[in-house]
Amino acid sequence: MVSNDGKLYLKKVKGKVRDLERAIDFGEIKGAGIGHTRWATHGKPTVTNAHPHTDCTESIVLVHNGIIENYEELREELASKGHVFKSDTDTEVIVHLIEDFLKEGLEKFEAVVAAMRKVDGAYAVGVIFKDEPNAIYAARRGSPLIIGVGEAENFIASDIPAVLNYTRRVVVLNDFEIAKITPDEVVVKSIFGDFVNYKVLEIQWSAQMAEKGGYPHYMLKEIHEQPSAIMDTMRGRIKDGEVFLPELDELLGEELPSRIYIVACGTSYHAGLVGKYAIEKLAKIPVEVDIASEFRYRDVVWDDRGMALLISQSGETADTLAAMHMIQRAGLKTVAVVNVLGSTMSRDADVALYTRAGPEISVASTKAFTSQLTVLYLFALWLAAKSDPRGTEVLKNILSGLAFVPQLVDTVLTAEEKIAFMAEKFASFSHFMYLGRGINWPVAMEGALKLKEISYIHAEAYPAGEMKHGPIALVDDKMPVFAIATKSRVYEKMINNIEEVLSREGRLIALISQDDRRLMNKVQDVIVMPEVAEIFSPVVNVVALQLFAYYCAIERGLDPDRPRNLAKSVTVE
Ligand code: G6P
Repeated sequence: MVSNDGKLYLKKVKGKVRDLERAIDFGEIKGAGIGHTRWATHGKPTVTNAHPHTDCTESIVLVHNGIIENYEELREELASKGHVFKSDTDTEVIVHLIEDFLKEGLEKFEAVVAAMRKVDGAYAVGVIFKDEPNAIYAARRGSPLIIGVGEAENFIASDIPAVLNYTRRVVVLNDFEIAKITPDEVVVKSIFGDFVNYKVLEIQWSAQMAEKGGYPHYMLKEIHEQPSAIMDTMRGRIKDGEVFLPELDELLGEELPSRIYIVACGTSYHAGLVGKYAIEKLAKIPVEVDIASEFRYRDVVWDDRGMALLISQSGETADTLAAMHMIQRAGLKTVAVVNVLGSTMSRDADVALYTRAGPEISVASTKAFTSQLTVLYLFALWLAAKSDPRGTEVLKNILSGLAFVPQLVDTVLTAEEKIAFMAEKFASFSHFMYLGRGINWPVAMEGALKLKEISYIHAEAYPAGEMKHGPIALVDDKMPVFAIATKSRVYEKMINNIEEVLSREGRLIALISQDDRRLMNKVQDVIVMPEVAEIFSPVVNVVALQLFAYYCAIERGLDPDRPRNLAKSVTVE
């Protein structure tokens, strides 16, 4: 929607952003504009329910990301005052509320502030008034919102990469803040109406960093960025064979936690599962890992001396955020392992341990995952050194292995063609089973998730030892099994499971270690991984699974960057 010559030009489309682009012809844009891609929560994905929404007089337009929880009572109240609703959305109540406050005689800024005071739930909101064509009002609570500060032009967006082509100067709006943005000015007020001083951040990412850099898809670009993302994540945190995490020294002091709660969603949850293996092995501290949407509704038995790690690429995932706030209410310290600078989680946690993966655009997470693993290894080694200072020499050795990981990931990337060939061979199957054991079981889960997300092939992941308890019944020549069988303490056990599959005429692909003649003789389709310490093998192995999923999607003619029904940042419950 844009505001031109005192008129509002509004266009809504159901489907892809591309379809909207084709449908738009606003001519020369002289005033402000707003747009939003809606991810349906209340009301079906239809043109009527698409944003922007308008008030009764069609002179206020509004876009909203989030969920308004008290919308039913507000809708009733507003309807009884004569407001007519056009959509089934929760969003529409906000625009009518603003209209109502204007009618009561408030100024526009005050009307927006007053409306935001009345709504419960999560929102990032953009509002334009017909008779003020050069201004956008923006409000935030619980959903991400940033302001890009340009030269005689300003922007609002959900995240930083969106504005990098225009400016690197960014204001991150806080919860309960409302801004008025004109081409030359940004004014911020709190929800109580007082003026707020804000900071303008200088973002170091180049605009090009946020583009595809010559790759056909962001996902492939981001897979290839992993060696440097891992390196950046380690940078400055390893000195003289020791891990330096001063933020944690300050937070935890000498007292180590007796239990660690790790909470996350999706790919970040899988990173958490790998983290459990690493922390328990190295630091011998018990770790519980939970999916955030489960954690927040279970009866957690709190260990008062425990602490929590929240893992999130975006730092905005609604369930993980809610879990973090719940943990804080229980009085435990929180550390956010997060990629996005200035995100809500990074600001609300006691400490943010940043992954330094740079902007991740592709919906399917890749470089954020391996960077998260890197932070988790550093954290485990840091804890281990604190809990047993006598073991320093052993830890030094392990740490030197971590420093080599970026190089090993590079080696896996050189197998891209081979993996693409394998994908070509297998992409027509409709079902897949991924098997792993120990620290590579979460990697099997991540491999299956990648395949589901972007190639729409049904994939299940199982700890290989569970095969006999059910899933083996599925094995036949129509359901290939992807076995992660690199050298490890459970290698022999994996071989047994591979034999079980082969004896049932199952089709197998195996990730195997370099020079593993035994498996090369048994399994026809193998992908050879470089030699790596078992503890770091997830970082290396997952890269092959990411590439496999990517090329399966390509084989099936799908766009891996835009998987159907998925959102990069799930800011609603
Ligand atoms: C969405 C994304 C996933 C991501 C998950 C958690 O589902 O599509 O790629 O793993 O959210 O996101 P977070 O930003 O918290 O890591």
